[in-house]
Amino acid sequence: MSIPHEVARRRTFAIISHPDAGKTTLTEKLLLFAGAIQIAGSVKARKASRHASSDWMEIEKQRGISVASSVMQMEYRDCVINLLDTPGHQDFSEDTYRVLTAVDAALMVIDAANGVEPQTIRLLQVCRARNTPIITFINKLDREVREPLELLSEIEGHLGMDAVPFSWPVGMGRNFGGVFDIRRDRMRVFRAGQERRNDDSDIIEGLANPVIAERYGDDFKKASDEIELIQAAAPAFDAQAFLAGRQTPVFFGSAINNFGVQEVLDALVDLAPAPGPRAALEREVRPEEPRFSGVVFKVQANMDPAHRDRVAFVRVAGGRFERGMRLKVSRTGKEIRPNNVVSFLSQRRDLLDEAYAGDIIGIPNHGVLQLGDVLTEGEALRFTGLPFFAPELFQQVEVKDPLRTKQLRTGLTQLGEEGAIQVFKPVAHGGQLLLGAVGQLQFEVVAHRLKTEYNADARLLPSRYTMARWLTADDPKALRKFMDANAAHIAYDVVEAPAFLATSSAQLRVAEDLYPDVRFHAMREHG
Ligand code: G4P
Repeated sequence: MSIPHEVARRRTFAIISHPDAGKTTLTEKLLLFAGAIQIAGSVKARKASRHASSDWMEIEKQRGISVASSVMQMEYRDCVINLLDTPGHQDFSEDTYRVLTAVDAALMVIDAANGVEPQTIRLLQVCRARNTPIITFINKLDREVREPLELLSEIEGHLGMDAVPFSWPVGMGRNFGGVFDIRRDRMRVFRAGQERRNDDSDIIEGLANPVIAERYGDDFKKASDEIELIQAAAPAFDAQAFLAGRQTPVFFGSAINNFGVQEVLDALVDLAPAPGPRAALEREVRPEEPRFSGVVFKVQANMDPAHRDRVAFVRVAGGRFERGMRLKVSRTGKEIRPNNVVSFLSQRRDLLDEAYAGDIIGIPNHGVLQLGDVLTEGEALRFTGLPFFAPELFQQVEVKDPLRTKQLRTGLTQLGEEGAIQVFKPVAHGGQLLLGAVGQLQFEVVAHRLKTEYNADARLLPSRYTMARWLTADDPKALRKFMDANAAHIAYDVVEAPAFLATSSAQLRVAEDLYPDVRFHAMREHG
């Protein structure tokens, strides 16, 4: 098959939600409906108990299993769909931001009882900043939930984009009758808990069909009034507006009951975009160009304790990847020839033969590949946009047994490169390392991993710092001057980028006022 044909049939999207909205359930049902798995339960079974998500042991377990379900590939109709999972817990949102750089669209799952929740809002901001098209699934209509009109306006408020319903619920909870398919002018009748794909026996054609009015009475009346209202008030669906991130199509359903899943899967094929061009600093990379290029957006270490390997997750930006191909790492100029590259087909790690733009490939390596690295057939390319956020929490780290200092350093370097935590080397403080995180759980996971994966028992101590800002300046001398004058507050991160550490926002403001030639960044983009 030609490269343009393969690109045109790729759909790569992330699934995002607040924990417990039903992301795992919907993921599983999408796989089921696409025929990638035969019975439901296999993804769910891998998910460690969510109720213990504040417990680092559970997080650790989840990490172990998360690779299998973090990227899933399925074929549906004539499309190859790559589904990227994102960590639900907010303490790991940095990881999610990076995953969002690797997709062309996002599927947002909302719990109809809770509406738009905090974690979803943060993720939406990232999607908005990147103009990522979003498809919305409102889940759990089989429960007593919030009014659909209210949910719609809440979504619009938080997204800052128009919500265009493609379906509309008739009743809810015990009286959930099904959904109107507004565009196809028919109703799909709700039946609980079917472990099968929908078939047409559940369909009543024509919204004006008297059977519907008769069977669903007041719920029908309410739903059809509401549809009339939104059709008069809301704009019609406009594919261009959706692709530009200005409209989101909305579907209602109940994932656990397989209800509304088919519609979402079809929307991914029919509405979500195929991979498009990506801007490298040097030039625009087109997905259908003949030569391979790809970007590392995620690194996961020690997924298999027996092998101690790290897997770099690479999003193919353009061209065709073939197993055994020689690739060059743009940052270092090093050549690699990955033979055991893995693709992620449903839950298995399969050996991969070829991949195209939009696909995710996993390259096991021993530290050659880092976050943000670009792989090509020889050309030097750099992509920006992989975000690192200034940490808000800091702890000092000390090894309990001084003889294990080397292991501690190795572990921290690797975990820092993986993006699990940010590691700063202060210029002062006798070289004691400082850890920075966005969420508290990151510290706990890192301490646990240092012990189990690197045999380095670390002690984490409180730090007086509360803020970090990366530093740049047009004039290197101005930067030097600032750093010399504030040496006690300067540290270098894992890629040797200098940062200013502050104990309060007042201290930061003073520094900003005194040194107008120096820029203080709350975010660093890799590349
Ligand atoms: P998450 O990945 O977003 O965290 O959510 P997950 O799919 O694990 O779902 C969270 C809870 O919501 C689960 O219940 C799940 O069964 C339930 N759920 C998902 N979709 C629906 C739906 O359409 N209707 C209803 N009523 N519930 C739904 P749980 O009791 O926490 O776990 P479990 O015992 O079912 O595994």
